[in-house]
Amino acid sequence: MTTLYQTVASDLKRQIQNGTYMPGSKLPAIREMSKRGNYSVATIIAAYRLLEDEGYIHAKAKSGYFVKHRKESGPIKPLDLKAVLKPQKVSVQHIASALSKAAADPRIIKLGAAVPAHQYLPVRAVERALQKVGKYRNRLFNYEVYAGAPELRYQLARRMADTGYIASPDEIIVTNGCQEALCLALRVTTKPGDIVAVESPTYFGLLQLIESLGLRTIEIPTDQKEGISLTYLSEAVRSFDVKACVIIPNFNNPVGSLLSDDNKAQLSKILSEKGVTIIEDDTYGDLYFGENRPRSIMSFDSSADVIYCGSFSKTISPDLRIGWIVSKLSNEKLEHLKFMTNVSVSSINQLVVSDVIQSGKYDRHLRKVRVEYEHAIQKMAEFIYRYFPERTQISQPKGGFVLWVELPENVSSAELARLALDQGISITPGHIFSSSNKYHNCIRLSCAVQWTPQVERALITLGSLAKALTEKAA
Ligand SMILES: Cc1ncc(COP(=O)(O)O)c(C=O)c1O
Repeated sequence: MTTLYQTVASDLKRQIQNGTYMPGSKLPAIREMSKRGNYSVATIIAAYRLLEDEGYIHAKAKSGYFVKHRKESGPIKPLDLKAVLKPQKVSVQHIASALSKAAADPRIIKLGAAVPAHQYLPVRAVERALQKVGKYRNRLFNYEVYAGAPELRYQLARRMADTGYIASPDEIIVTNGCQEALCLALRVTTKPGDIVAVESPTYFGLLQLIESLGLRTIEIPTDQKEGISLTYLSEAVRSFDVKACVIIPNFNNPVGSLLSDDNKAQLSKILSEKGVTIIEDDTYGDLYFGENRPRSIMSFDSSADVIYCGSFSKTISPDLRIGWIVSKLSNEKLEHLKFMTNVSVSSINQLVVSDVIQSGKYDRHLRKVRVEYEHAIQKMAEFIYRYFPERTQISQPKGGFVLWVELPENVSSAELARLALDQGISITPGHIFSSSNKYHNCIRLSCAVQWTPQVERALITLGSLAKALTEKAA
C-alpha cells in the first residue's frame, strides 16, 4: 500500500522529471507545501527525505530543499551510427514542435533557431536602461499611445533615414516584433484566398503566418547571392492576381542574399506598375558586413505601395518584442488593426529600446557585432567544409548570422534534424522554408552561438550523421 508521503514524493518526482522544478531550483518550503496540499508537516518532511534518499533533491542548511543537477556526462563516446540510423517516419509537425521545445531547453546545442547567444546582444545596455525606465511611473501604470512611445518613434524615424527613407515619427507604428508587423501588413492588404508572392526559400514564420490568414503563396526562386528572381516575379504578377509581395531584401533568412540597389529599384517599378503592395521585412538590415547599411526598397520608387517592417529582435533582444511598421499607405487602418489586436506595445520595452539607441550604445554594439558575425560565419563554414559530406554547398551571406547548407541530394534534412535532436543538437531542416516542401536536402544553421568545444563536437556529429545518411541512401 502506498502511504501519503510516498504519493506526495511521487507527484514531486514527476514534476522534477517534467521540468516543473528545474535542476537547481528550490522546492516550496515545508510549511508552504503542507498548507497548499492540506498535508501535515510530518508528511512533507517524510516526502522530501524520500526524494533526498533517491537522489532527486538535496537539503541546504537554512535554505531549504533544491533539485539536484543531472550528473555531468563523462567523455563523449563516439556515435554508434548503426544504432542511431534506424528507420522512422518523419513528421514535419513533429520536427517543428520538437525544434521550438529544443530552443527552450538549456541542454540542447542550438544551431537551429535564429536567436543570438547573449554575447551577441547588448545585455549591459539593456540592463542599465531597465533600471532607468523603472522611474517612469506615470507611463508604466497607464496605456501607452497606441502607435507607440513618442521617444522610440523619434529614434526610429532617424534610423529609417539610414535606410534611405525619410519618415516622420507620426508615420511609424511600434509593434510586438516584426512578426506582428508582417501580420498587420498582410491583414491590411489582403483577404483570405488572396495570393501573396514570397521568396523561395523564405522565413518559415512568414509562411506559417500566411497560412494562418488563409492566403495562398506563389514562391519566387531566390538566388543565394542576388536575391529574388525579377524574371520570375514579373511573370508571376503578369499571370496571377498577386495582392502583395513579401520580401527580405537585406540578408534573406535563410540564404542571406542581398538585393542590389538596381534590383530594388526595378522590383519596386515592376510591382508598382501592377498595383502589388510590397511588404519589406528588414529584420537583418543593420547586420551588414559591407561598408554601408543597405538601402530599403521603400527608399526607391515613390509611387510603389510599400509597407516596411523592422525589428530589434536580432540586435537588441528577442524578448523585448520591439518591431515597427512604416507605411506609404494610410496609417489609419493599420493603427486601428494594431489597436484591435493588442492595443499597444508595453511602454517599458519601448523605453528600454529607445534608451539603448539614444545613448549611442546600439550603434557601438552593431559595429562590434557585425565583425564578430562575419568571423563566426567563416569559422562555421570552415568546419562544415571539413566534416560534412563531399558536394556540400554553403551560402556566403553578406550580413546576418545564418548559413544555408545544401547537402548531397539524397540526404533528408528532416531525418537529419530528428537524428541530431536525439544527440542533443537542434538544426532547422530546409523544407520548412518553402510552402511546397522544397529544399529537402538543405539545413539552416545559426552562427550566433557561443563557440565552445561542445559546438565543435556538435558540428562534427552533424557531419558524421549527414555522411552516414548519404551512404545509406546511395
Ligand atoms: C526574416 C524574419 N522576419 C521576422 C522575424 C520575426 O521577428 P520578431 O522576433 O521581431 O517578431 C524573424 C525571426 O526569426 C525573421 O527571421
